[in-house]
Amino acid sequence: MPRPTLLMLHGFPHDHALWTEQMEGLSDLAEVIAPDLLGFGTGGAVPDVLTMEDYAADVKALLDARGIERVVLGGLSMGGYVALAFLQRWPEGVQGLLLINTRATADALDARAAREATAMEVLANGTSVLARAMLPRVLSEKTRREKPDVVAHVRSMMERQDPRAVAAAARGMARRPDRSFLLPGVRVPALVITGAEDELMPLPTSQAMAEAIPGARLVVIPGVAHLSNMEDADHFNYVVRDFLRMVSHP
Ligand code: MLT
Repeated sequence: MPRPTLLMLHGFPHDHALWTEQMEGLSDLAEVIAPDLLGFGTGGAVPDVLTMEDYAADVKALLDARGIERVVLGGLSMGGYVALAFLQRWPEGVQGLLLINTRATADALDARAAREATAMEVLANGTSVLARAMLPRVLSEKTRREKPDVVAHVRSMMERQDPRAVAAAARGMARRPDRSFLLPGVRVPALVITGAEDELMPLPTSQAMAEAIPGARLVVIPGVAHLSNMEDADHFNYVVRDFLRMVSHP
């Protein structure tokens, strides 16, 4: 059986470099594709708002251009919101689902207002203020203490993003609908991964998703927070390798 394609979608405000350890550590089991979502990474002009559907359509165009019909679809946080938008529109293109440090629900009203404030802030002052504010929230205390290389990687990844892309994504996330209704209808293998110390996506959020998807497994990685794939890449890759084997040999 040929290797499946594993499509990994990064979060906010990241780029493909979020997945460096997965590109290296999973490529014997899958063809790993980790694109930059529109405007992130190399940047380029973007509209004022990019919805999760916009990102999903861009990713679909990338797959079509490469002649790829089905993928194991993974997304971390905002990447998970995009993955669910993709799943809703192109369910036949998904052969396995990996929801990582994410949620299926929409923003509450106060969170929506905070997104607009974030957009205005980065447009006025750049991304470094946002990076400084987010770092202690996305990395566990243990990661910050023991893994200075991960801290430096995450900081520089966040700081280098184009403020216009960050603002467009913040506004798009505020507009995303609740997609919880999709979960009971998922008919492919699914894995929900989170960090035991993720305060942005508290554990009950992941538990609820895993319970709603028929047959889904939940893995909670100890000692890590929101960027579980970077904070403990070995543990993360171990569970994803298991999952890929299961998808390849059902
Ligand atoms: C992310 O990591 O993509 C963001 O924290 C998601 C969000 O702000 O909802």
